[in-house]
Amino acid sequence: MDKFISIQEALNKGKGKVSIRGWAHRERGSNKLKFIVLRDSSNIIQCVIKPENKVWDEAQKVTVESSLEIKGTLKEDKRAPTGYELQVTDLKLIGSSDSFPISRDVSPEFLLDVRHLYIRSRKLTAIMKVRHTVLQAFRDYFLKEGYFEFTPPVLQPTQSEGGSTLFEVKYYKEKMYLAQTWQLYGEASVFSLEKTFCLSPTFRAEKSKTSRHLSEFIMAEMEAAWMDLKGLSDHTENLLRFIVKRVLKERKEELKILERDIEKLKKADAPFKRMTYSEVLELLEKKDGMKIKWGKDLRTIEEDNLSKHFDTPVIVTHFPEEIMAFYKPPSGDGKTSLCLDVIAPEGYGEIIGGSQRDLDIERMSEKLKKEGEDPKDYQFYWDLRKYGSVPHSGFGMGVERVVAWMCGIDNVKDAIGFPRTMTRFKP
Ligand code: 4AD
Ligand code: MG
Repeated sequence: MDKFISIQEALNKGKGKVSIRGWAHRERGSNKLKFIVLRDSSNIIQCVIKPENKVWDEAQKVTVESSLEIKGTLKEDKRAPTGYELQVTDLKLIGSSDSFPISRDVSPEFLLDVRHLYIRSRKLTAIMKVRHTVLQAFRDYFLKEGYFEFTPPVLQPTQSEGGSTLFEVKYYKEKMYLAQTWQLYGEASVFSLEKTFCLSPTFRAEKSKTSRHLSEFIMAEMEAAWMDLKGLSDHTENLLRFIVKRVLKERKEELKILERDIEKLKKADAPFKRMTYSEVLELLEKKDGMKIKWGKDLRTIEEDNLSKHFDTPVIVTHFPEEIMAFYKPPSGDGKTSLCLDVIAPEGYGEIIGGSQRDLDIERMSEKLKKEGEDPKDYQFYWDLRKYGSVPHSGFGMGVERVVAWMCGIDNVKDAIGFPRTMTRFKP
């Protein structure tokens, strides 16, 4: 058996004989030379075959996306896409490929139809590697801070972020819902583990078609006992700066493939701007002439305008109480809540939402009733306030939105392998 090395290892080696394997990313040829750009998960390399070679005929059968094993000698060549060329001595066709349906001029919708093939592209491969790094960085940040990973249920008996985006599931003879957040279970977990996090599938039946909303995504969430809004804000900032640093360090090549302006990412690694909702309204009125009625939630256009004024994410706290979820406690000023949203730079929108948690069962019950919920369905949640309640806080980070921001791509659909939206659920 030949010992195969990855294309990146071959490029690092730079000379000598190597055996590599992968897929034909591109191929072209004449009766004098055949070129195959081979790709594997690590990189691409140009391979060249001459007519006198014993595998010349075999090489003529190679079409785009054929899988191959190739042996050859490395040679530096500045004209080749990654600086080296492999002069082929042996080639074995492992799996032939029908005419590949993806070419340069296909539509974005078609690319979604053949997503199972499109994920092989250099662009999506680069994005998926950045995504991997974002997920690992989230985990590493909270492990370093002494948090435990806690896995919440995806099938849940109640809503937690409003009834309008719930996915209902037939559950034996009962009705259940797909998780809108781990939060209520995350809160239960801190009375045992004190500091916990999860990276969990989350579902929202979003009826709007935007570049920021998916029906299924990964929410990376944390919850901590004995934590207030200030402590929570500090964690959002430290976490995001940790992620940015990690991506800049480990994903240089991918950011290059994606043509990401990394100077903008570098600038985000500085102390974050922090302001209240009311201060945001004042700023938008003064600098952009936008008049927003106090009490209205920030829309995409307001978030985008806000982000234009800063290089770092902005931590916005103290949103109006009446538009906040039932579990967000009043701040004491009679009109705002102890909550935060983190708005990404460059118009990538809200990437984190979180709050201190209300401890007052009566107040939360009243809010739920107004939403048409029966507080009795939340008995387990009230128990958390009945048996040794403590101040606690948590937040959720939208992984795809952070990935989109890191990669500089304009739609969260490309930040996940197989996007689900109102109109897109195949393959
Ligand atoms: O602001 P959200 O709705 O907060 C919660 O669900 C809290 N229970 C989290 C917590 O405190 N543990 O969602 C959190 C984040 C948003 O800031 C956004 O980044 C992302 O999740 N998000 C979505 N991402 C993609 N598609 C959607 N439909 C999203 N909805 C929310
Ligand atoms: Mg939110």
